[in-house]
Amino acid sequence: MRIDVVSLFPEFIAQCAAFGVVGRAGERGLLSLHGWNPRDYAEGNYRRVDDRPFGGGPGMVMLIEPLRACLRAAREAVDVPARVIYLSPQGAPLTQAKVRELAGRERVILLCGRYEGIDERLIQAEVDEELSIGDYVLSGGELAAAVVVDAVARLREGVLGDAESAVQDSFEDGLLDCPHYTRPVEHELGSVPPVLMSGNHAQIAKWRRMQALGRTWQRRPDLLDEATLSKADRKLLDA
Ligand code: ADE
Repeated sequence: MRIDVVSLFPEFIAQCAAFGVVGRAGERGLLSLHGWNPRDYAEGNYRRVDDRPFGGGPGMVMLIEPLRACLRAAREAVDVPARVIYLSPQGAPLTQAKVRELAGRERVILLCGRYEGIDERLIQAEVDEELSIGDYVLSGGELAAAVVVDAVARLREGVLGDAESAVQDSFEDGLLDCPHYTRPVEHELGSVPPVLMSGNHAQIAKWRRMQALGRTWQRRPDLLDEATLSKADRKLLDA
């Protein structure tokens, strides 16, 4: 999969994607990440990429032209159609379902804003989709883009080994994850639930499911409306 990132700080995202499973995916050619800097497409001695907002007010707005030229260069770098995604607090919330959908694409272009944002006309003309990583404001879209790159890359075929399989992740079934334990069995901070050492796989699976359901019910009851629940799950929750 190819991900192009249009950003005033493209090296930042490259750094974020250089470690762990995503870094390995890059090394193994399962993910190719390319940075594009709108400043390289700005004109004049100062290579301006922003200007004051019409109507007044604080902050600056990113200019249409450097961004448009930069996006065009990114689009045309290879002959593969790309979905252009703008990261902003005004976007639709990023969910695991959306991440899965993006991971099914061969190419996306992530557009990062800085300052107060991007001229609305560029968004209307060039952006296919606007995504937010949460109801808070970051100083730019780069951290959000890094989140998308990480979450998407780990779902691509071959990126995770069996041991790290994404199937059991939180949210893959719409629930929060169960707790996890490793050695030692006894520790001053507590002991490991005995069922996990029982060797009884059916019991272990049941315990994990109950934990996932219980945690979701306690911490994020809103998720239960959307989760795929079996009859047995419903019985547990209604008890
Ligand atoms: N840019 C600034 N804040 C953001 C957010 N919450 N999500 C995505 N992009 C952003």
